[in-house]
Amino acid sequence: MTEVKRGLMFWLVAAKDVLVLYFYTVFIFFESFIQLIFPPKLKSLKNETILITGSASGIGRMICLELVSTGAKLVCWDINKWDNDGLVKELRNLGATAFGYEVDVSDRQKVRTAADQVKTDVSDVTMIINNAGIMPCHSFLSHNPKEISRAFEVNVLSQLWIVREFLPRMIERKCGHIVAICSLSGLIGSRNLSVYSSTKFAVNGFMEALQDELAHRPEDLNIKFTTVYPTSCDTSFSKNIVHTRFPWLMPEFTTPQYVAKRTVEGIRRNRESVCIPPSIVLFAFCLKSLPSKVFYAARELLGIYCEPKATATR
Ligand SMILES: NC(=O)c1ccc[n+]([C@@H]2O[C@H](COP(=O)([O-])OP(=O)(O)OC[C@H]3O[C@@H](n4cnc5c(N)ncnc54)[C@H](O)[C@@H]3O)[C@@H](O)[C@H]2O)c1
Repeated sequence: MTEVKRGLMFWLVAAKDVLVLYFYTVFIFFESFIQLIFPPKLKSLKNETILITGSASGIGRMICLELVSTGAKLVCWDINKWDNDGLVKELRNLGATAFGYEVDVSDRQKVRTAADQVKTDVSDVTMIINNAGIMPCHSFLSHNPKEISRAFEVNVLSQLWIVREFLPRMIERKCGHIVAICSLSGLIGSRNLSVYSSTKFAVNGFMEALQDELAHRPEDLNIKFTTVYPTSCDTSFSKNIVHTRFPWLMPEFTTPQYVAKRTVEGIRRNRESVCIPPSIVLFAFCLKSLPSKVFYAARELLGIYCEPKATATR
């Protein structure tokens, strides 16, 4: 084939690919619009074994309570044994099959040991909800290095260790569901949250890249991914420190109950992103495509920032 023919072929194939992408985009927009009116059916979680990290309080605790009615087996991991044991008791009193483990999810060895224990005591984990997290909140230079490492260990590395333990069986079984509780701070960086925000951006990147990797494996896998983006809600975590300008518009979105309800609904509809509340987080997604000066102005308008907590020493 001559050089000219090769060049022509290249541009013809590229033009065909762009055309296919264009029609695919139109189709997906249309499908998403239809799904706004007729959402996908809720899937049953009855035969699932669901691991929830950071289950002892806040959003994790509410997700466990929300899952009771689904009939799934619940495996609750938290570093706080006392509160986690209390939760497991409460779940069992409500009729759930629940198991509690004291685990520091940032410690790879402890994650391995606990994962083996779960496989023996319960069964294969078929769904992971990576929720445990910490939120250092002050100016970047006032973080001490230990605190920065800890944030990455708890918020990011823990998710990688946990997925490494359970993903191989999901691949063997050709099905599973991986959920990450991310944050609006995983989409928009704002003052006093440089470290926290970078951990949440990392979670976002991990979920997106892993999903792409699994989609390109030779087997036909039915492993779903859901990333949840809550704004601020009242838990021990953020009480009185994270500001948003519009909580009065929809006060219920600031409760962990609301975040849990929307999260479980999103999981049951196999949604890839769950934005809580949809309006503000979707707005944040759109902002990213605007010129940076517009983005900064809109970030001010949203008014999302964090009051600095006690400053760590350097
Ligand atoms: N509260 C908010 O405003 C908000 C907003 C967006 C995203 N989030 C995310 O939601 C998730 C849950 O936060 P929350 O608000 O419920 O906080 P929370 O402090 O109420 O709960 C976090 C739980 O994680 C556990 N945990 C912390 N470190 C751990 C470790 N090393 N090993 C095991 N368990 C550990 C804690 O004991 C606690 O039970 C976090 O990932 C957070 O980033 C929270």
